[in-house]
Amino acid sequence: MSTAAERFSDLVGRHPEGIWGAPGRVNLIGEHTDYNAGLALPFAIDRATVVAAARRPDRTVRVYSTNLDEQACANLDELADWDPGEFVGWSRYALGVLWAIKLPPPGLPGVDIVVSSDVPLRSGLSSSAALTVGIAVALDDIWGLGLDRQEIAKIAQQAEAGFAGTPCGLMDQLAALEGKPGAAVLIDFLSLTTELVPLEVGPLVVLNTRVEHANADGAYADRRRACETAAARLGVPSLRQATLTQVEQELNGQLQKRARHVVTENERVKQTVARLRQNAAVGDLLVSSHMSLRDDYEVSCPELDLAVETALANGATGARLTGAGLGGCAIALGTGADVLAVPLSKAFAEAGFRPPELFTVSPSRGAGRLA
Ligand code: GLA
Repeated sequence: MSTAAERFSDLVGRHPEGIWGAPGRVNLIGEHTDYNAGLALPFAIDRATVVAAARRPDRTVRVYSTNLDEQACANLDELADWDPGEFVGWSRYALGVLWAIKLPPPGLPGVDIVVSSDVPLRSGLSSSAALTVGIAVALDDIWGLGLDRQEIAKIAQQAEAGFAGTPCGLMDQLAALEGKPGAAVLIDFLSLTTELVPLEVGPLVVLNTRVEHANADGAYADRRRACETAAARLGVPSLRQATLTQVEQELNGQLQKRARHVVTENERVKQTVARLRQNAAVGDLLVSSHMSLRDDYEVSCPELDLAVETALANGATGARLTGAGLGGCAIALGTGADVLAVPLSKAFAEAGFRPPELFTVSPSRGAGRLA
Protein backbone atom coordinates (compact mmCIF):
# COMPACT_ATOMS: atom_id res chain seq x y z
CA MET A 1 0.00 0.00 0.00
CA SER A 2 1.20 3.51 -0.72
CA THR A 3 1.99 6.11 1.91
CA ALA A 4 -1.11 8.05 0.86
CA ALA A 5 -3.37 5.08 1.60
CA GLU A 6 -1.70 4.30 4.92
CA ARG A 7 -1.76 7.89 6.07
CA PHE A 8 -5.37 8.30 4.96
CA SER A 9 -6.54 5.78 7.54
CA ASP A 10 -4.50 7.48 10.30
CA LEU A 11 -5.60 10.99 9.41
CA VAL A 12 -9.21 10.48 8.43
CA GLY A 13 -10.03 7.52 10.63
CA ARG A 14 -11.49 5.30 7.88
CA HIS A 15 -10.39 3.64 4.67
CA PRO A 16 -10.16 5.58 1.42
CA GLU A 17 -12.77 4.79 -1.24
CA GLY A 18 -10.06 4.45 -3.84
CA ILE A 19 -6.44 5.09 -4.72
CA TRP A 20 -5.43 6.92 -7.89
CA GLY A 21 -2.04 7.78 -9.37
CA ALA A 22 -0.62 10.26 -11.87
CA PRO A 23 3.01 10.23 -13.06
CA GLY A 24 5.55 12.98 -13.63
CA ARG A 25 6.97 13.31 -17.12
CA VAL A 26 10.19 13.73 -19.02
CA ASN A 27 9.98 15.47 -22.35
CA LEU A 28 12.17 13.58 -24.82
CA ILE A 29 12.02 16.41 -27.35
CA GLY A 30 9.71 19.26 -28.42
CA GLU A 31 10.37 22.00 -25.89
CA HIS A 32 8.43 25.25 -25.67
CA THR A 33 6.30 24.08 -28.57
CA ASP A 34 3.06 23.28 -26.74
CA TYR A 35 1.89 26.88 -26.39
CA ASN A 36 2.84 27.42 -30.03
CA ALA A 37 0.40 24.82 -31.38
CA GLY A 38 3.47 22.67 -32.11
CA LEU A 39 4.64 19.11 -31.52
CA ALA A 40 6.12 17.48 -28.42
CA LEU A 41 7.20 13.95 -27.49
CA PRO A 42 7.09 13.48 -23.71
CA PHE A 43 6.75 10.23 -21.76
CA ALA A 44 5.25 9.46 -18.37
CA ILE A 45 7.86 8.31 -15.85
CA ASP A 46 7.83 5.68 -13.12
CA ARG A 47 7.48 8.30 -10.40
CA ALA A 48 4.03 9.45 -9.47
CA THR A 49 1.69 11.25 -7.13
CA VAL A 50 -0.62 8.84 -5.33
CA VAL A 51 -4.03 10.13 -4.24
CA ALA A 52 -6.21 8.44 -1.61
CA ALA A 53 -9.70 9.89 -1.36
CA ALA A 54 -13.15 9.39 0.11
CA ARG A 55 -16.36 11.41 0.16
CA ARG A 56 -17.39 13.25 3.33
CA PRO A 57 -20.88 13.80 4.68
CA ASP A 58 -20.51 17.62 4.44
CA ARG A 59 -19.25 20.13 1.83
CA THR A 60 -15.72 20.44 3.12
CA VAL A 61 -12.69 19.55 1.04
CA ARG A 62 -9.60 18.65 3.00
CA VAL A 63 -6.31 17.91 1.28
CA TYR A 64 -3.27 16.63 3.11
CA SER A 65 0.25 16.29 1.71
CA THR A 66 2.33 13.56 3.33
CA ASN A 67 5.50 14.95 1.74
CA LEU A 68 5.11 18.35 3.36
CA ASP A 69 3.04 17.32 6.35
CA GLU A 70 0.62 20.15 5.64
CA GLN A 71 -3.10 20.32 5.06
CA ALA A 72 -5.51 22.73 3.41
CA CYS A 73 -9.24 23.01 3.90
CA ALA A 74 -11.99 24.77 1.98
CA ASN A 75 -15.77 24.68 1.62
CA LEU A 76 -17.40 23.85 -1.70
CA ASP A 77 -20.23 26.31 -1.07
CA GLU A 78 -17.72 29.15 -1.04
CA LEU A 79 -15.90 27.97 -4.14
CA ALA A 80 -16.79 31.06 -6.19
CA ASP A 81 -15.03 33.24 -3.61
CA TRP A 82 -11.94 31.12 -3.14
CA ASP A 83 -8.87 33.31 -3.18
CA PRO A 84 -5.61 31.54 -4.09
CA GLY A 85 -3.76 34.00 -1.84
CA GLU A 86 -5.40 32.38 1.17
CA PHE A 87 -3.78 29.01 0.52
CA VAL A 88 -0.19 27.84 0.90
CA GLY A 89 1.83 27.14 -2.30
CA TRP A 90 1.22 23.44 -3.02
CA SER A 91 -2.43 23.50 -1.92
CA ARG A 92 -3.24 26.08 -4.61
CA TYR A 93 -2.57 23.35 -7.14
CA ALA A 94 -4.63 20.81 -5.22
CA LEU A 95 -7.61 23.06 -4.49
CA GLY A 96 -7.19 24.71 -7.89
CA VAL A 97 -8.49 21.48 -9.41
CA LEU A 98 -11.81 21.89 -7.59
CA TRP A 99 -11.88 25.55 -8.60
CA ALA A 100 -11.23 24.59 -12.23
CA ILE A 101 -13.97 21.94 -12.25
CA LYS A 102 -16.21 24.90 -11.34
CA LEU A 103 -19.39 22.90 -11.16
CA PRO A 104 -19.68 21.14 -7.83
CA PRO A 105 -23.50 21.31 -7.68
CA PRO A 106 -25.16 21.45 -4.27
CA GLY A 107 -25.62 17.69 -4.18
CA LEU A 108 -21.95 16.81 -4.40
CA PRO A 109 -20.30 15.82 -1.14
CA GLY A 110 -17.04 17.15 0.23
CA VAL A 111 -13.94 14.99 0.00
CA ASP A 112 -10.97 13.99 2.12
CA ILE A 113 -7.84 13.69 0.00
CA VAL A 114 -4.36 12.53 1.03
CA VAL A 115 -1.52 12.82 -1.47
CA SER A 116 2.03 11.51 -1.49
CA SER A 117 4.55 11.81 -4.28
CA ASP A 118 7.95 10.54 -5.32
CA VAL A 119 8.26 12.97 -8.24
CA PRO A 120 11.06 15.35 -7.24
CA LEU A 121 9.52 18.75 -6.51
CA ARG A 122 10.44 21.90 -8.47
CA SER A 123 12.83 20.03 -10.73
CA GLY A 124 11.06 20.30 -14.07
CA LEU A 125 9.58 16.79 -14.01
CA SER A 126 6.03 18.10 -13.63
CA SER A 127 5.36 17.23 -10.05
CA SER A 128 2.61 19.85 -10.25
CA ALA A 129 0.85 18.15 -13.17
CA ALA A 130 1.18 14.82 -11.35
CA LEU A 131 -0.64 16.43 -8.41
CA THR A 132 -3.37 18.23 -10.35
CA VAL A 133 -4.03 15.36 -12.76
CA GLY A 134 -4.01 12.84 -9.88
CA ILE A 135 -6.62 14.83 -7.98
CA ALA A 136 -8.66 15.46 -11.12
CA VAL A 137 -8.88 11.74 -12.01
CA ALA A 138 -9.78 10.94 -8.40
CA LEU A 139 -12.58 13.55 -8.30
CA ASP A 140 -13.84 12.54 -11.73
CA ASP A 141 -14.21 9.00 -10.48
CA ILE A 142 -15.47 9.68 -6.99
CA TRP A 143 -18.03 12.27 -8.10
CA GLY A 144 -18.92 10.37 -11.30
CA LEU A 145 -18.30 13.42 -13.50
CA GLY A 146 -17.66 11.42 -16.68
CA LEU A 147 -14.90 13.75 -17.91
CA ASP A 148 -12.80 12.72 -20.92
CA ARG A 149 -9.02 12.90 -20.90
CA GLN A 150 -8.81 16.23 -22.67
CA GLU A 151 -11.24 17.77 -20.22
CA ILE A 152 -9.21 16.41 -17.33
CA ALA A 153 -5.98 17.76 -18.86
CA LYS A 154 -7.53 21.21 -19.31
CA ILE A 155 -8.92 21.26 -15.77
CA ALA A 156 -5.48 20.36 -14.40
CA GLN A 157 -3.89 23.07 -16.56
CA GLN A 158 -6.45 25.63 -15.40
CA ALA A 159 -5.73 24.74 -11.78
CA GLU A 160 -2.06 25.49 -12.37
CA ALA A 161 -2.34 28.50 -14.65
CA GLY A 162 -5.61 30.04 -13.42
CA PHE A 163 -5.52 29.36 -9.70
CA ALA A 164 -1.91 28.64 -8.72
CA GLY A 165 -0.73 31.39 -11.09
CA THR A 166 1.98 29.36 -12.86
CA PRO A 167 1.74 29.77 -16.62
CA CYS A 168 1.96 26.46 -18.53
CA GLY A 169 0.88 24.77 -21.73
CA LEU A 170 -0.89 21.42 -21.91
CA MET A 171 2.04 19.07 -22.44
CA ASP A 172 2.64 17.94 -18.86
CA GLN A 173 -1.00 17.13 -18.20
CA LEU A 174 -1.48 15.19 -21.45
CA ALA A 175 1.77 13.26 -20.87
CA ALA A 176 0.61 12.36 -17.36
CA LEU A 177 -2.72 11.13 -18.74
CA GLU A 178 -1.71 9.39 -21.95
CA GLY A 179 1.60 7.73 -21.00
CA LYS A 180 2.07 3.99 -21.61
CA PRO A 181 4.92 1.63 -20.70
CA GLY A 182 7.56 1.49 -23.43
CA ALA A 183 6.18 4.48 -25.31
CA ALA A 184 6.45 8.22 -25.71
CA VAL A 185 3.37 10.31 -26.44
CA LEU A 186 3.47 12.37 -29.62
CA ILE A 187 1.23 15.37 -29.00
CA ASP A 188 0.06 17.63 -31.78
CA PHE A 189 -1.12 20.81 -30.08
CA LEU A 190 -2.76 22.13 -33.23
CA SER A 191 -5.23 19.27 -33.56
CA LEU A 192 -4.90 18.31 -29.89
CA THR A 193 -4.39 14.68 -30.82
CA THR A 194 -1.98 12.16 -29.34
CA GLU A 195 -0.27 9.07 -30.70
CA LEU A 196 2.01 6.55 -29.01
CA VAL A 197 5.53 6.11 -30.36
CA PRO A 198 7.69 3.15 -29.27
CA LEU A 199 10.52 4.33 -27.02
CA GLU A 200 13.08 1.56 -26.71
CA VAL A 201 16.37 3.44 -26.62
CA GLY A 202 18.14 1.80 -23.68
CA PRO A 203 18.61 3.58 -20.35
CA LEU A 204 17.03 7.01 -19.94
CA VAL A 205 18.94 8.90 -17.27
CA VAL A 206 17.65 12.03 -15.56
CA LEU A 207 20.35 14.46 -14.41
CA ASN A 208 18.84 16.78 -11.84
CA THR A 209 20.92 19.95 -11.48
CA ARG A 210 18.88 20.84 -8.38
CA VAL A 211 18.81 24.43 -9.58
CA GLU A 212 15.54 26.26 -9.02
CA HIS A 213 15.62 29.37 -11.10
CA ALA A 214 14.23 32.35 -9.23
CA ASN A 215 12.58 34.02 -12.21
CA ALA A 216 11.64 30.92 -14.20
CA ASP A 217 7.96 31.93 -14.43
CA GLY A 218 8.88 35.42 -15.61
CA ALA A 219 11.18 34.02 -18.30
CA TYR A 220 8.48 31.54 -19.38
CA ALA A 221 5.89 34.31 -19.76
CA ASP A 222 8.45 36.43 -21.61
CA ARG A 223 9.14 33.61 -24.13
CA ARG A 224 5.43 33.06 -24.69
CA ARG A 225 4.91 36.75 -25.42
CA ALA A 226 7.85 36.76 -27.84
CA CYS A 227 6.34 33.81 -29.72
CA GLU A 228 2.95 35.53 -29.95
CA THR A 229 4.58 38.72 -31.21
CA ALA A 230 6.62 36.76 -33.76
CA ALA A 231 3.51 34.97 -35.06
CA ALA A 232 1.62 38.26 -35.31
CA ARG A 233 4.47 39.86 -37.27
CA LEU A 234 4.50 36.93 -39.66
CA GLY A 235 0.72 37.10 -40.01
CA VAL A 236 0.17 33.48 -38.93
CA PRO A 237 -2.18 32.21 -36.20
CA SER A 238 0.72 30.52 -34.39
CA LEU A 239 4.37 29.66 -35.01
CA ARG A 240 3.22 26.19 -36.13
CA GLN A 241 2.20 27.75 -39.43
CA ALA A 242 5.49 29.66 -39.87
CA THR A 243 8.32 28.39 -42.10
CA LEU A 244 12.02 28.69 -41.40
CA THR A 245 12.44 30.84 -44.55
CA GLN A 246 9.80 33.28 -43.30
CA VAL A 247 11.44 33.44 -39.88
CA GLU A 248 14.84 34.09 -41.42
CA GLN A 249 13.62 36.64 -43.94
CA GLU A 250 10.93 38.53 -42.06
CA LEU A 251 12.15 38.61 -38.45
CA ASN A 252 15.36 39.71 -36.86
CA GLY A 253 17.16 39.94 -33.52
CA GLN A 254 15.75 38.21 -30.48
CA LEU A 255 12.34 37.59 -32.02
CA GLN A 256 13.96 35.71 -34.88
CA LYS A 257 15.93 33.54 -32.46
CA ARG A 258 12.88 32.64 -30.39
CA ALA A 259 10.81 31.79 -33.47
CA ARG A 260 13.66 29.84 -35.07
CA HIS A 261 13.87 27.60 -32.02
CA VAL A 262 10.16 26.79 -32.19
CA VAL A 263 10.09 26.16 -35.94
CA THR A 264 13.23 23.98 -35.94
CA GLU A 265 12.14 22.14 -32.78
CA ASN A 266 8.90 21.03 -34.45
CA GLU A 267 11.00 19.58 -37.28
CA ARG A 268 13.24 17.79 -34.79
CA VAL A 269 10.19 16.18 -33.19
CA LYS A 270 9.03 14.90 -36.58
CA GLN A 271 12.48 13.48 -37.30
CA THR A 272 12.73 11.90 -33.85
CA VAL A 273 9.39 10.16 -34.33
CA ALA A 274 10.35 8.89 -37.80
CA ARG A 275 13.64 7.53 -36.49
CA LEU A 276 12.14 5.90 -33.39
CA ARG A 277 9.67 4.11 -35.64
CA GLN A 278 12.62 2.70 -37.61
CA ASN A 279 14.54 1.90 -34.45
CA ALA A 280 17.27 4.37 -35.52
CA ALA A 281 19.41 6.54 -33.21
CA VAL A 282 18.01 9.93 -32.13
CA GLY A 283 20.80 11.27 -29.89
CA ASP A 284 22.02 13.96 -32.32
CA LEU A 285 18.51 15.45 -32.48
CA LEU A 286 18.47 15.81 -28.70
CA VAL A 287 21.83 17.58 -28.84
CA SER A 288 20.58 20.00 -31.54
CA SER A 289 17.49 20.66 -29.43
CA HIS A 290 19.66 21.54 -26.44
CA MET A 291 21.80 23.91 -28.50
CA SER A 292 18.73 25.61 -29.89
CA LEU A 293 17.29 26.03 -26.39
CA ARG A 294 20.63 27.34 -25.17
CA ASP A 295 21.46 29.71 -28.02
CA ASP A 296 18.15 30.73 -29.60
CA TYR A 297 15.59 30.33 -26.83
CA GLU A 298 18.09 31.14 -24.07
CA VAL A 299 16.54 28.92 -21.39
CA SER A 300 19.57 26.85 -20.45
CA CYS A 301 21.92 27.66 -17.56
CA PRO A 302 25.55 26.76 -16.75
CA GLU A 303 24.51 23.72 -14.70
CA LEU A 304 22.31 22.29 -17.47
CA ASP A 305 25.02 22.90 -20.07
CA LEU A 306 27.59 21.18 -17.88
CA ALA A 307 25.27 18.21 -17.26
CA VAL A 308 24.73 17.79 -21.01
CA GLU A 309 28.43 18.19 -21.88
CA THR A 310 29.52 15.76 -19.18
CA ALA A 311 26.97 13.16 -20.26
CA LEU A 312 28.09 13.43 -23.89
CA ALA A 313 31.76 13.17 -22.88
CA ASN A 314 31.00 9.99 -20.93
CA GLY A 315 29.23 7.80 -23.41
CA ALA A 316 25.78 9.37 -23.79
CA THR A 317 24.60 9.38 -27.40
CA GLY A 318 22.30 12.32 -26.77
CA ALA A 319 21.40 14.71 -23.97
CA ARG A 320 19.37 17.86 -23.53
CA LEU A 321 17.60 19.94 -20.94
CA THR A 322 14.03 18.78 -20.41
CA GLY A 323 11.07 20.90 -19.32
CA ALA A 324 10.97 24.67 -19.20
CA GLY A 325 14.73 25.05 -18.52
CA LEU A 326 16.68 27.65 -16.51
CA GLY A 327 17.32 24.91 -13.97
CA GLY A 328 15.76 21.54 -13.30
CA CYS A 329 16.76 18.42 -15.19
CA ALA A 330 18.49 17.16 -18.29
CA ILE A 331 17.92 13.77 -19.89
CA ALA A 332 20.69 11.57 -21.30
CA LEU A 333 20.43 8.54 -23.60
CA GLY A 334 22.72 5.67 -24.38
CA THR A 335 24.57 5.17 -21.12
CA GLY A 336 23.76 4.20 -17.55
CA ALA A 337 23.38 6.29 -14.40
CA ASP A 338 26.21 4.22 -12.88
CA VAL A 339 28.59 5.38 -15.64
CA LEU A 340 27.57 9.04 -15.37
CA ALA A 341 27.38 9.43 -11.59
CA VAL A 342 31.07 9.93 -10.79
CA PRO A 343 32.04 12.18 -13.73
CA LEU A 344 28.95 14.33 -13.19
CA SER A 345 29.53 14.77 -9.46
CA LYS A 346 33.17 15.58 -10.16
CA ALA A 347 32.38 18.13 -12.87
CA PHE A 348 29.76 19.83 -10.67
CA ALA A 349 32.11 19.93 -7.67
CA GLU A 350 34.89 21.44 -9.78
CA ALA A 351 32.54 24.11 -11.10
CA GLY A 352 31.39 24.90 -7.55
CA PHE A 353 27.79 23.76 -8.25
CA ARG A 354 25.49 21.90 -5.83
CA PRO A 355 25.86 18.10 -6.01
CA PRO A 356 23.55 16.84 -8.77
CA GLU A 357 21.19 13.89 -8.50
CA LEU A 358 20.91 11.07 -11.08
CA PHE A 359 18.33 8.40 -11.64
CA THR A 360 17.03 6.16 -14.37
CA VAL A 361 13.45 6.52 -15.57
CA SER A 362 11.32 4.27 -17.73
CA PRO A 363 8.31 5.17 -19.85
CA SER A 364 5.33 4.25 -17.73
CA ARG A 365 1.55 4.18 -17.54
CA GLY A 366 -0.49 7.34 -17.37
CA ALA A 367 -2.91 8.45 -14.67
CA GLY A 368 -5.70 6.24 -13.45
CA ARG A 369 -7.19 4.26 -10.62
CA LEU A 370 -4.75 2.01 -8.79
CA ALA A 371 -7.05 0.38 -6.28
C1 GLA B 1 6.73 23.62 -18.73
C2 GLA B 1 5.26 23.83 -19.07
C3 GLA B 1 4.89 23.03 -20.34
C4 GLA B 1 5.84 23.34 -21.48
C5 GLA B 1 7.30 23.23 -21.02
C6 GLA B 1 8.28 23.66 -22.06
O1 GLA B 1 6.95 22.29 -18.38
O2 GLA B 1 4.45 23.41 -18.00
O3 GLA B 1 3.56 23.31 -20.69
O4 GLA B 1 5.58 24.60 -22.02
O5 GLA B 1 7.53 23.98 -19.85
O6 GLA B 1 8.27 22.78 -23.15
